[in-house]
This record gives sequence, C-alpha cells and structure tokens, in this order.
Amino acid sequence: MGVKAQSWVVSEHMRGVPDVGRVYTKVDEELDTDLAPDEMLLRTLYVSVDPYLQGIALDTPIGDPMGADSIMEVLAAGPLAPHRPGDLVQGFGGWRTHLISDGAPKAWQTGTFPMVFPAYRRLDPGWYDAEVPLPTALGALGGPGMTAWGTLNRFMTVTAGHTLVVSGASGTVGSLVGQLAKRAGARVVGTTSSPAKADRLLKLGFDAVVPYRHGDSARAVGALLREAAPGGVDRYFDNLGGPVTDAVFPLLAVDSQVAVCWQWATQVGGDTQGPRLLPWIMFPRTTIRGVFSLEWFTPANWRALHEELGGGIRRGEIVHEYTLHHGFDSIPDAYHSLYGDRGDRLGKVLVAL
Ligand SMILES: NC(=O)c1ccc[n+]([C@@H]2O[C@H](COP(=O)([O-])OP(=O)(O)OC[C@H]3O[C@@H](n4cnc5c(N)ncnc54)[C@H](OP(=O)(O)O)[C@@H]3O)[C@@H](O)[C@H]2O)c1
Repeated sequence: MGVKAQSWVVSEHMRGVPDVGRVYTKVDEELDTDLAPDEMLLRTLYVSVDPYLQGIALDTPIGDPMGADSIMEVLAAGPLAPHRPGDLVQGFGGWRTHLISDGAPKAWQTGTFPMVFPAYRRLDPGWYDAEVPLPTALGALGGPGMTAWGTLNRFMTVTAGHTLVVSGASGTVGSLVGQLAKRAGARVVGTTSSPAKADRLLKLGFDAVVPYRHGDSARAVGALLREAAPGGVDRYFDNLGGPVTDAVFPLLAVDSQVAVCWQWATQVGGDTQGPRLLPWIMFPRTTIRGVFSLEWFTPANWRALHEELGGGIRRGEIVHEYTLHHGFDSIPDAYHSLYGDRGDRLGKVLVAL
C-alpha cells in the first residue's frame, strides 16, 4: 500500500536572501504506508514560513525535504504511536503533503551544538474556534506567540514606567511583544519599515514608531529613537540586530534587559561589521539574554499561553493577523514574500494545503 506525496527538497545552499527557484525543487514520491508499530502517516494541513528557515535550509543536506513547523492530521497510526488517527498535531513536519513519522523529538546539528525539535504536540480541538482558528497554532498561539509571551513572562520583567523598544515590530513576534508590553504598563516604541505599518502599530497601542529600513544608518535611527525614548531604553527586544541595535545600546538605562531573538542584519544580510557594543552595558548593568523559544514548549506554558494571550485575543484586547496562501505549490513563493518588498502586512504568513 502506498500514498502519493509531494515534498519541496533543498537543491542548493544559498546565503543571504534565498532565490527560492534555485533553493527548492518539488519532488513526487510514493510513500510506503506499511507502518512500523510506533509510526504515523500524517497529512499536512498548514505550513508555516518563517525567516529562521533561511538557516534551516543551509543546515539541510542537499536532496532532503525542507523542514518547517506545520499542523498535521494523523491518517493512520501503529499501535505504539503517540497519537491516534483523527488527531491534529503540530510539529516540525516540513514542506511535505504527507509524511511518515514517529513524532519523537529530533536532534538537529547547527553551529556548535545540537538543538532538538520537540515531539509532535497534540492540539486540543477545544482550544480552537472562529475567534482563535486552528492556524493560530503556528502563529500567535504557536512558536512565535510563545517567543513573545515566553520572553515577557520567563525573562524580561516589564512594569509601568519602563520604555521597551522592539525592532522589526510589524512581524508576528514583534507585534505581540509590543502589545503584551503595553498591557504590562510599558511605554512601547517599535521600529518598522513603512508608514502604513507604522500607522497600524500605533492603532495597536504602540506609543511611538520609528521608521527603519535595511540600509538606513545607525546615526539616523539613533536620533529618532532618542526622541522617542528620551529617558532611555529599559527593555530591548532585538529582532533585527545591525544598525538598530547599534543605535539602541548607547540608550540603555540602568538595570536594562535585552532579549536577542534574531539578528536579521547578520544572519540574512551578511553584515558582520559594527561598533563594539559591550562597553555600553557596563555602567547600566544591562542583562542580555539569547531567546530560543523551544525551551518554553512545555504543556504548562502552552496552557498559560492559551489562557493569557488566547484570552486576550478572544476579548479583543490583543490583535493578531495572518496572511494565508493556498496550495502546496505556493509554499516557496509564500516564503519568499518574507523578503524584499513585504507590502504592508502585519503578522504571520502561512500556507493552507
Ligand atoms: N529566537 C527564537 O526562538 C525565535 C522564535 C521565533 C522567531 N524568531 C525570529 O524572530 C524574528 C521575528 O519572527 P516573526 O515570526 O515575527 O517574523 P516575521 O513575521 O516574518 O517578521 C519579521 C519582521 O522583520 C522585519 N524586517 C526588517 N528588515 C527586514 C528585511 N530586510 N526583510 C524582511 N523583514 C525584515 C519586518 O518588520 P518591519 O517591516 O516592521 O521592520 C518583518 O515583519 C524572525 O527573524 C524569526 O526568524 C526567533
């Protein structure tokens, strides 16, 4: 017995902004559905496209399927498999229409240490409805939401009187960080790349928005940030690195905290130049912490995320947006829409298969 499946495989390793026509190739295959006792046959319903996939593609052996966070339905399962037919699960299933997996944690070698993609997580159907639809399991109530919520609940202490700056504020993570910090009483300043996005962030409650596009100087963005945060920056959520971060560090206040979520400028832009920033953290006694959201993927945190962030969405206090692309063939283009001219969209980009 077999099932016809398609996957996008990595056909070239490319640094910088990916040319998706070269990096990905579509492959048809017949999956042998003779399952081992612990295996499941899964059908992909939604696939997430994220900027960090640029690094995942570089770490993926040529010819292997592209990994990605996804929502899958279990079609068949061996007697020892962790989930049953009909279950909906979320995990790192990849850009594949169907797959066979035991859903177990998977080690992934990157840089100097192995990271582990967590076990497939069963999605409780009771958690999703018209207000909080299933695809949010890949957005506000999935990894990106956990990144924002986890940072503000498990690392950063944000209280009234603080000024928090978030770079790349219009993205899934940034827009949630800003809204959660605002609810905690902070003055929130975002950087974003277009006037239309700035307007929308102000409507979400951001107190000030500073324009920043790739290529702008640290001096220019620094002058605007100084105006927007005249008392200094108490909390910095760093999504971009590069000149924005160069500009924020001299503004750090006493006892400030910095969360390093992503360094677009270095990891995609290849920008490895810059001033030495560490002198700026000595007098203000700044704490800098790398954020890697997988550490917060625990049942207790998922429940808390649904109650707190999901509750805020249901009550209309927190806005989350996503753009849905349709069809397996559209995945590379949906991914490419994260780069270059990103229009005026806010929030997550997903593909419904
Ligand atoms: N460390 C972790 O655990 C973790 C977890 C999840 C995500 N991340 C990373 O955190 C970042 C934010 O995630 P996300 O889900 O919010 O991503 P996203 O929705 O794609 O948003 C990324 C934002 O970056 C900004 N940006 C600035 N310069 C850009 C450029 N040259 N090209 C494209 N975008 C640019 C854009 O916002 P503006 O237009 O407003 O500037 C964009 O909306 C991503 O880079 C992601 O890979 C890290």
